[in-house]
Order: sequence, then structure tokens, then C-alpha cells
Amino acid sequence: MSEHSASTVHDIVILGGGSGGYACALRAAQLGLDVVLVEKDKLGGTCLHQGCIPTKALLHSAEVADTAREGEQFGVKSTFDGIDMVAVNAYKDGVVGRLYKGLSGLVKSRGVTLVEGEGRLIRPDTVAVGESTYTGRNVVLATGSVPKSLPGLEIDGSRVITSDHALTLDYVPRSVVVLGGGVIGVEFASVWRSFGADVTIVEALPHLLPLEDEDLSKQLERQFRKRGIAYELGARFSKVEESATGVVVHLENGKALEADLLLVAVGRGPVSSDLGYDEVGVAMDRGYVVVDEHCRTSVPNIFAVGDLIPTLQLAHVGFGEGILVAEQIAGLAPRPIDYDGVPRVTYSEPEVASVGLTEAAAREIHGDGVTTVKYDLAGNGKSQILKTAGFVKLVALTDGPVLGVHIIGSRAGELLAEGQLIYNWEAYADDVATLIHAHPTQSEAMGEAHLALAGKPLHAHS
Ligand code: NAI
Repeated sequence: MSEHSASTVHDIVILGGGSGGYACALRAAQLGLDVVLVEKDKLGGTCLHQGCIPTKALLHSAEVADTAREGEQFGVKSTFDGIDMVAVNAYKDGVVGRLYKGLSGLVKSRGVTLVEGEGRLIRPDTVAVGESTYTGRNVVLATGSVPKSLPGLEIDGSRVITSDHALTLDYVPRSVVVLGGGVIGVEFASVWRSFGADVTIVEALPHLLPLEDEDLSKQLERQFRKRGIAYELGARFSKVEESATGVVVHLENGKALEADLLLVAVGRGPVSSDLGYDEVGVAMDRGYVVVDEHCRTSVPNIFAVGDLIPTLQLAHVGFGEGILVAEQIAGLAPRPIDYDGVPRVTYSEPEVASVGLTEAAAREIHGDGVTTVKYDLAGNGKSQILKTAGFVKLVALTDGPVLGVHIIGSRAGELLAEGQLIYNWEAYADDVATLIHAHPTQSEAMGEAHLALAGKPLHAHS
């Protein structure tokens, strides 16, 4: 029997040490609660090991490759001599390793009891890990998600792969078909193109990043086309066959695309089967755990956070949900999360970033009472210096607050931080227009867009 015998009742037992689970553990421990965190693999979960961090390292290598190629544009003599994937992976793994070490140290120093092993819910208040059991006044489910596939499409890990495999490739494919033009598909397409591959994205809906404001998707498509990234929109996958050198991907429209690799990026699904959730009475919907706005499941002392619940599958949403649950259990009264106010960033070249409502969503709710402006980065000095194209688009209530901020261009994700404040503080264009932005910065584009929305554009035509 472990030292945490069934007679010890902890404040919280958390199943899963990814973004949602570990954030909950850290905040709960900070609030003086006694926390057990069960993790079967490595602390940090998808974000740290198979998602956000390693993919952004690849995207940074891709940016360096583009800079090497484009040096002449800035008067710098440089040539692109190819990609050394072993070195790229060493860089990427180094970043992940350092963050992993830091996180492990943090969890330890906060006094969280980390249990390494695969846990299973055996009673509403008890998680079993091997021979040991851990009982908590509260249980938090945070078992995350894994890549999905399509019926009849077998992931073999060598020619037909998911993002998990793509992150460990030790070569640059000559050609790739990317199935799914969502966030993962767009980011990997961007990386591989910069690394020199021929890339075709197949997206079932009419646009890349179909959940974004349509203007952003169209601009991304234009810029991807310029970069030589091909795409088939409104196209459905039919079947895949092996060829002598890779795969032939057949689409329902009759086209056949040949490539070395097929990356399947059609979404991620929750990890919730065979973990005892159903058996203890936790209500589920298509594999997701159903929760209320406080992340409480149908069983009162059980909460669920992160990719396991049907909210945005983003690491920072997991952090927010984990913190919300910890604070609630500690007796604070945290406000529910406004999911529209969560920033969304796709880190491709160009980056796509947004918060709040798209124009279409705002018009659906507010009809003609919606005003939009678009400020082109062509008028922004720093963007010209960086040679980046794109725009800031604002969606606002006419004579009312800003409802949505949508940005495309290099480093759009960093620019979005201000947009997030503007949205969440329900700022009016007039208020933001009085803020002086540093010159020359890309953030001036945010100021200019608000000046335009307030009817007094400076560096844009009235
Ligand atoms: P996704 O849901 O963003 O995109 C999947 C895409 O595949 C959709 O556009 C869908 O229309 C398309 N699709 C589905 N079936 C198809 C078919 N049969 N043929 C062609 N297209 C098809 O899912 P994705 O990109 O796999 O990402 C999973 C999750 O991970 C998302 O929730 C995403 O937000 C998150 N993520 C976030 C990142 C970020 O914040 N930068 C980075 C990577 C992932």
C-alpha cells in the first residue's frame, strides 16, 4: 500500500498533468490545498511535448530559414543551404527539455504530490494507480486529447502520420498532403514549405482556418498561394493508396494528389474511454465530459478541464479552466470564463490572431448595428521595414464597444495582447484612439485601426 493509503483524504486528486491539470495543481497548492497529481507520461502534456512548444520551435526554425533565403532583400548576403533536421530537432527538444525541467521543479516546490502512472477513476472520489488508490474530497479530470483520424484511414506512422509523428521526423519530406486546413494543418504546411517541401492542403470547408473571420482566411490563402503552398478548398478526402515513393491521396472531386507523406490534421478527440468516467456516473457527450460554466461535471465533487471538455482546445484555455477549478475548490468565487474573450493564434507565416466575434457572428447577433474597419499594414512603418503584409480588422457595435479584433501578419499573435484587453474591457474606439502607440511599432496598427473606427484616421484614407 502506498503512503497515500485509502485512509488519507486529499483536497484534490487530479487525473492528468497537462496544461489543465498542472495549472489546477499549481494554483490549488498555492492556495494551501493538499494536491495529488497523477500523470502517466510526462508533466506538461500535449502542449509541452507534442503541441504548442515543439511546433513553435519548428516554426521559428522555419522563420530563420526564410530569413536566410530573403537576406538579399535587406541587403544582407546570405544563402539558404538546406535544413538539418537532426539539428532542428535538437534545438526543439532542448527548448522542451528546459521547460519540462522547470515545470517539474515548480510542481515539486509547490508541494504537489506527483504520482507517476496511469490512473483510473474507481469511485467518484477515488483514483487507482496500479495497486495504490488516492482519495480526494474533489477529483479533477484532465486527461486531454489525441489526434483524430477518419473512418477507413489508417495512421501507419510513416507515410500516413499525425502531428505527433510529424514532430519527430528526422528528414524534410519532398512533398506532403495535409488533410485539414485548421490550425495544425496550416502551421505544419507553413513549416514544411519554409523547409523546402511541396505542400498541398485539403480542406473540406470553403476556407483555410474556417473558424476565423473570412477576411483573415482569404488573406491567408492569398499569402500562402504566394509562398507556393497549394490548397484544395471545399474538397473531401476519399481514400489513400500507397505508391512506390509515398502515397496517392484521392479526393471526392476526382483529383489524386501524390506525395511522400499524408499528414492527418482533422481535429483532436478527447481521451475519456476506459478511465471509469462512465461507470461512476459522469455525464458524457460524444466522448467529451459535460460540464457547467464552473467546469463541474454531473457528479458534484468531480470537475473536468482542458481538451477533455467541449470548449476551445487551447493550452491557455486549459490553464484558465484549471485555475478556475482550483479557486472554486478553495472557496473563492472565480468568474466563469468568457470563451469569446480568449485569444486564438495560428503561428504560421503569416500569423493569424483573433479575439471576440467574427464579422459574420457579430452580424448574426446585432444585424446592421455592426461597423467594421480594416487597417492595412502597408501603411504601418514597422511592417514595411519587416516587409510583412496583412491587416488589423475591427468589428464593433456602431457607437458601441469593440466586439472583435482580427489580425494577420508576422507576429500578429504578439499584437493581439492589446486586442484582448480592448475586447475584454469592452473599450470604445474613441477611448483606444486616445492612446499614443510607440512609433515605429507594429502595434501602431492597432492604434490606427481604432482612429479609423473613431472616424479620424491618421495614416489611412478617410
Ligand atoms: P481543427 O478542428 O482546427 O481543424 C481540422 C480541420 O479539418 C477543419 O478545418 C475541418 O473542416 C477539416 N476537416 C475535417 N474533416 C475533413 C476531411 N474529411 N477532409 C478535409 N478536411 C477535413 O483541428 P486541428 O487543426 O487538428 O487542431 C486540433 C486542435 O488543436 C484545435 O482545436 C486547435 O485549436 C488546437 N491547436 C491549437 C494551436 C494553436 O493555438 N496555435 C496549434 C495546434 C493545435
